[in-house]
Amino acid sequence: MKKVLSISFALMISSLAIAQFSRQAQDSIRQLTQADYTNMLEQTGIASTRQGPSGTPGQPNSANTDESKATQYASLPDPLILNNGKKVKSAKVWWNKRRPEIVELFDREIYGRVPANVPGVKWEVKTTTNDSVAKIPVITKTLVGHVDNSLYPSINVDIDLTLVTPAKVTGPVPVIMEFGFVFRPRTTPAPQAQTAAARPQATGSRPQGPAGPTWQQQVLEAGWGYAIIVPGSIQADNGAGLKSGIIGLTNKGQPRKPDDWGALRAWAWGAAQALDYFETDKAVDAKKIGIEGLSRYGKAAIVTMAYDQRFAIGFIGSSGAGGTKLYRRIFGEQVENLAGSDEYHWFAGNFIKYAADPLTQKDLPVDSHELVAMCAPRPVFISAGSPTVEGGWVDGKGMFLGGALASPVYELLGRKGMGTIEMPPIETSLTTGDVAFRQHSGGHTTGPNWPYFIQWAKRYF
Ligand code: GCU
Repeated sequence: MKKVLSISFALMISSLAIAQFSRQAQDSIRQLTQADYTNMLEQTGIASTRQGPSGTPGQPNSANTDESKATQYASLPDPLILNNGKKVKSAKVWWNKRRPEIVELFDREIYGRVPANVPGVKWEVKTTTNDSVAKIPVITKTLVGHVDNSLYPSINVDIDLTLVTPAKVTGPVPVIMEFGFVFRPRTTPAPQAQTAAARPQATGSRPQGPAGPTWQQQVLEAGWGYAIIVPGSIQADNGAGLKSGIIGLTNKGQPRKPDDWGALRAWAWGAAQALDYFETDKAVDAKKIGIEGLSRYGKAAIVTMAYDQRFAIGFIGSSGAGGTKLYRRIFGEQVENLAGSDEYHWFAGNFIKYAADPLTQKDLPVDSHELVAMCAPRPVFISAGSPTVEGGWVDGKGMFLGGALASPVYELLGRKGMGTIEMPPIETSLTTGDVAFRQHSGGHTTGPNWPYFIQWAKRYF
């Protein structure tokens, strides 16, 4: 029963992004999403896709949660073998040849490319307030990143960012930025028919973690600051929104091409713009910026770390499929789910091909251990919840393996990897290396892992 509840919770979260809209707006989002999805199937020449398994246990098509059936692949792509078959033996070959090869494959087949014409952002500090968080005096700045829309003035993109730094400090502080589960009402009209779909009716935030000090308080107690960036202010979380937001702006309101970026890269791009701002703020040590997120925003956090080498550390919460979980594992969520009309907007259109015969996840030219490897040598902490409380959908072991199998790249670069490829028991921290893992006993949250992340991150900050 517990398991049933927890997996349904994951599904509930999946629909959270559109549950905030009125019934009418939800219908409109679905219709516009379907039209955009069909357009992408036409562009990629896909007649039909396979259906993904169900997240509800006990159905004929339930997702597999039996470990003995999970490893149906014979081998994984090797992050240290070049496309020409040669072994990478030096850091130089990794940086100059192999890493660029891996980046190109993730760009083209999975997350999509950031277009060359992506415009600049001008940051405006809207308010600066002296207040306190759990009795700690802080300075809170609310900011808006105005994206230059001279390219296509009917699409406006204003990135929402909040920065909170401790007031009683003598120098710049490290900052942990979270992709916040915050839904922002549009303040400007959306283009064309997307108006109704793109206008949230309410704001809301993610269900809270466990009782005790909040993550914000814990971060401040470590002497650091924190920031929250609102993903929906960069790019909407549905296919209907792909002709607006930063993706729509660069495409001048037209549909994406098959290798164009999806929402995950767009959110990561937004985080990089925030880092640009941090580089100009004297309260912040921009060489010590961490990125954290949960679930779809855990995926966004690992993509941010992988693509922008200025991010110093990552805390990747229950990122599951499309995050650090190996795509090739038949356990929990599958490529077919990610490539369906509810989630394809997170990825490049090309990714849908792997859910359409004759291709399968085994044909992906890379797997997610290579996404973690793209972060090397920078530290990454992979967080999971309990399989009985959070459920199997996120595939804790698959996420662990994504980190563990990236270790050879960390080692090539003179760092320490996970130290094992054996999945540890629950509540056992693997935090001796630069790729860390911990499965807490709670549900779909990073909550209980914050103290362990902070303790480990202090080695670097
Ligand atoms: C669904 C989806 C996951 C995603 C999660 C979330 O469960 O299948 O891939 O991570 O929603 O973001 O909450």
